[in-house]
Amino acid sequence: MEGGAMPISFAGQAIVITGAGGGLGRAYALEIARRGGKVVVNDLGGATDGVPGGESSAFADKVVDEIRAAGGTAVANYDSVASQAGGDAIIACALENFGRIDAVIANAGTIRYGAFEDLTLDDLNALLAVHVGGSWSVAHAAWPHMKAQGYGRLVFTTSSGGTLGNASLAAYGAAKGAVMGLMHNLAEAGAPHGILCNAMMPNAMSRMTIDIKPGELGENRWSAAMPQYFDPAYTAGLATFLASSACTSHHGIYSMLGGRLGRAFIGICDGHAQDTPMDAETIAANWATINDDQGGYAIPANNTDEFRIVAEQRGVTPPALA
Ligand code: NAI
Repeated sequence: MEGGAMPISFAGQAIVITGAGGGLGRAYALEIARRGGKVVVNDLGGATDGVPGGESSAFADKVVDEIRAAGGTAVANYDSVASQAGGDAIIACALENFGRIDAVIANAGTIRYGAFEDLTLDDLNALLAVHVGGSWSVAHAAWPHMKAQGYGRLVFTTSSGGTLGNASLAAYGAAKGAVMGLMHNLAEAGAPHGILCNAMMPNAMSRMTIDIKPGELGENRWSAAMPQYFDPAYTAGLATFLASSACTSHHGIYSMLGGRLGRAFIGICDGHAQDTPMDAETIAANWATINDDQGGYAIPANNTDEFRIVAEQRGVTPPALA
């Protein structure tokens, strides 16, 4: 508990973790169960690229066995997150076994990478279904229960491929970017009901990343230089915190990389403003100012907040609400 304070407990709580039969999800499940949480270990047990065939209940069963052997409480679920019926069944599993649902960690995922010209719309749709569809389906099923109890934690999994970009991850990055968009919106919709939504950008060695050959994704030579920080345990602490009642903030994206945890955010430069429409030449003349992130920028809390910030900069006062 380096630098920690009060121990964080999940006693009396039920937590769904999707894709928890291996890699990062397994680490989250073990850590939350160790802290008294009753865990639904969901995993379809499919291939890393998500191509159907060979699905196996062994993934989830093995992690449930590990949790039970350590004295914890867990049940397995094998539904796919990639449909609403699957999401409904996963949350129903928590309700049937534990009588409640307090937190959802949407972690299940698959990956396809390559040059943009080699990826297809089918690749994109498959990844959208599991990443953003799979976050949507479980959140949607848990939502009415969380709303009714005035409490919930939604932890989504985005990626630097989606938030920052990578030349070989067009389909995966688009799907992970969509997860970030869903988080921004559910954070706003959920907060009035005590449902706090945040997202993680993990970086860990798992079956998803272990087969990537050096040079295939540009980041590999960096991770090769500091492999000791890529144990899933590094991200497990973040997932545990965001899924717990100790986390009281929302709308955040957190990057765990190389042992460093920090918030990622979208800032908008103060830029150039004027009282007549900007033509292309004016934009060209002011391009450096428009792009100047050293000259001041704002981090809007939500889309309305960007209006407030700019109105203040422009000296405009909004009309009073009726
Ligand atoms: P992993 O492949 O070990 O884990 C993903 C799990 O999701 C697998 O056990 C798989 O069977 C399960 N799964 C796949 N499709 C499913 C579906 N439709 N329904 C239910 N379960 C399904 O990979 P890893 O690395 O543990 O990935 C976990 C999450 O973290 C993924 O969302 C991934 O995209 C994300 N991520 C991982 C990074 C890394 O460096 N490992 C970096 C950024 C994001």
